[in-house]
Amino acid sequence: MSEATYDKDSIKNVVMVALGVCFVCAIIVSMAAVQLKPLQVANKELDRNKNILIAAGLFEPDVTQISEIDTLFEQFTVKVVDLQEKRFLTMTEVIDAGIDVKKYDQRKAAKDPSQSIELGQQRDIASISRRARYSVAYLLENDGQVDRIVLPVHGYGLWSTLYGFIALEGDGNTVAGITFYEQKETAGLGGEVDNPAWKGLWPGKLIYANDEVAFEVTKGPVDPKSSRAQYQVDGLSGATLTSRGVQNLIAFWMGEDGFGPILKNLQG
Ligand SMILES: Cc1cc2nc3c(=O)[nH]c(=O)nc-3n(C[C@H](O)[C@H](O)[C@H](O)COP(=O)(O)O)c2cc1C
Repeated sequence: MSEATYDKDSIKNVVMVALGVCFVCAIIVSMAAVQLKPLQVANKELDRNKNILIAAGLFEPDVTQISEIDTLFEQFTVKVVDLQEKRFLTMTEVIDAGIDVKKYDQRKAAKDPSQSIELGQQRDIASISRRARYSVAYLLENDGQVDRIVLPVHGYGLWSTLYGFIALEGDGNTVAGITFYEQKETAGLGGEVDNPAWKGLWPGKLIYANDEVAFEVTKGPVDPKSSRAQYQVDGLSGATLTSRGVQNLIAFWMGEDGFGPILKNLQG
């Protein structure tokens, strides 16, 4: 009687081994994804807090420890803005609306029709299509007075949506700082929105004149003799379209459909 020979290189064996390896790898990758998720969320939150501090001019470059960033960030009072009702929500309303300010994702909310509105061509100055009902504002307060307010802004440049924060002084009009933490414009052209030298041109500039958004990013350098110079920042050379995108996103978020009414209340 002939003994059946075992062929380890048979197609069946090769397929079985390949499937086995795939299965083990899939389990390892899934476990890593699940295990690393909290770390990813914490890093995202840390990065956001760091950018809010940068916009507000409170970030110290030698700060590297997470606990130091957390301590600096604790100076802010975090408030939810109802952009539809044009007011800050009370703590009870925040809880009733099911918002966890630490985890609230405005970008995700803007994609959900139950949490956002379609802007329509006329109102969509920043080319963002939809706007979430709720946003989050970060306030630096002193004796019950707002010293500085940091607000999230976003809008389309040439190739991408630029995400950033703008900080305003307590008058709700004077820029304290700006930062862009996510954009995919061309490095050296539109990507210069993230250049500290360019961002350094913003503090002290004014957003509103006679209750209207007057702020502009000019094409080329600002004429210091112009009566409008205090509302203007130099355009990025070779990147007029990104510059216009920045101007548009400021016009939108500082306007009626953005934080304009909230800022007017601060001014009042
Ligand atoms: C490869 C390439 C990348 C570009 N990237 C940008 C950009 O990121 N932002 C921008 O505004 N313009 C960019 N431009 C230039 C625009 O096409 C356009 O010419 C420019 O915005 C006009 O600005 P200017 O009037 O200051 O020259 C790029 C052009 C090329 C060829």
